[in-house]
Amino acid sequence: MQAVTIDDGTIRVADRPDPAPGPDELLVRVAGAGLNGADLLQRAGHYPAPAGIPDDQPGLEFAGTVTAVGDRVVDHAPGDRVMGIVGGAAQAELVTTPADLVLGVPDGWDLVHAGGAPEALITAHDALFTQGRLGPGDRLLVTGAAGGVGTAAIQLAVATGAEVVASARGEDRHDALRSLGAAEVVLPDDQAAAGPFDVVLELVGAPSVATLLRSLATGARIVVIGVGAGSRLELDLLALMGARATLRGSTLRARPLADRVTATRSAGHVLGTLAARDAYTVPVAAIHDLGDAATAYDDFDRGGHLGKVILAP
Ligand SMILES: NC(=O)c1ccc[n+]([C@@H]2O[C@H](COP(=O)([O-])OP(=O)(O)OC[C@H]3O[C@@H](n4cnc5c(N)ncnc54)[C@H](OP(=O)(O)O)[C@@H]3O)[C@@H](O)[C@H]2O)c1
Repeated sequence: MQAVTIDDGTIRVADRPDPAPGPDELLVRVAGAGLNGADLLQRAGHYPAPAGIPDDQPGLEFAGTVTAVGDRVVDHAPGDRVMGIVGGAAQAELVTTPADLVLGVPDGWDLVHAGGAPEALITAHDALFTQGRLGPGDRLLVTGAAGGVGTAAIQLAVATGAEVVASARGEDRHDALRSLGAAEVVLPDDQAAAGPFDVVLELVGAPSVATLLRSLATGARIVVIGVGAGSRLELDLLALMGARATLRGSTLRARPLADRVTATRSAGHVLGTLAARDAYTVPVAAIHDLGDAATAYDDFDRGGHLGKVILAP
């Protein structure tokens, strides 16, 4: 099969042996595989794959069609349309995945577009509800809101009855974020003035958090998921104390399988409800052929997009 590989910091498409599913796994023919920040870090040699995953084959999410199932799998069959998150190697014609880690692709969804859904959906759902305890009526700030996780978070939060403030540079993307349900869309320089916030989903990093410490409602929860703009800040603990606020961080990829299954199923349950009433979309900025993976990586790295960049094998 053809697979995206990292060769000394360079993205290449190479021939790799077809993977075979283990007893509890599925073999999936990939239709779409989204790009994520972790892929860029892995390309740069800063994000080693978890144990058991080839270090030089990136790709954390996919959607496609099941072509074979392991001996112990009972709830999936060849032909099923599935999507999911894996520890790596999803940017390829074929991928294996634990059967427990996949979600059904909602009826009517395009399989290529679906390949950009799972990582953002599951990350945003886990961060908002499990980590941030977001509830109806809460005022939420999503920073870096125009990307995959941000656009997923806006929709999930609005569906639960939260009031969403989206912060994004590039005013050309602001109308699209409003159409996803954000009540207010601001530039990063104006985000602090839009508080107080009950929950902050921090997708940009330290410089953004630093502006928000005086914009927290009592009992606020800041959940740090992305630190692309930097991970170190000088923290005024007094401001945190004054708001009785919580600052926490989280990652998904390195968690034990059981935790990832729980996070996937929780998000999948909500997606099922939203997709049934057409209340969730995956904004897609670009789709590239697998053979153009290097261009896709550069495109994703440049930023400025709305939603996902997806590889289509
Ligand atoms: N912890 C986890 O488990 C986990 C899981 C998934 C993702 N992540 C991380 O979460 C972050 C968001 O993921 P994503 O998939 O949504 O990424 P994405 O699609 O690349 O979106 C990132 C967004 O952040 C904006 N941004 C970046 N630097 C900024 C800055 N200095 N000031 C203002 N905005 C800035 C980007 O704006 P431009 O387009 O203008 O550059 C873009 O809209 C990434 O850092 C990713 O690595 C973490």
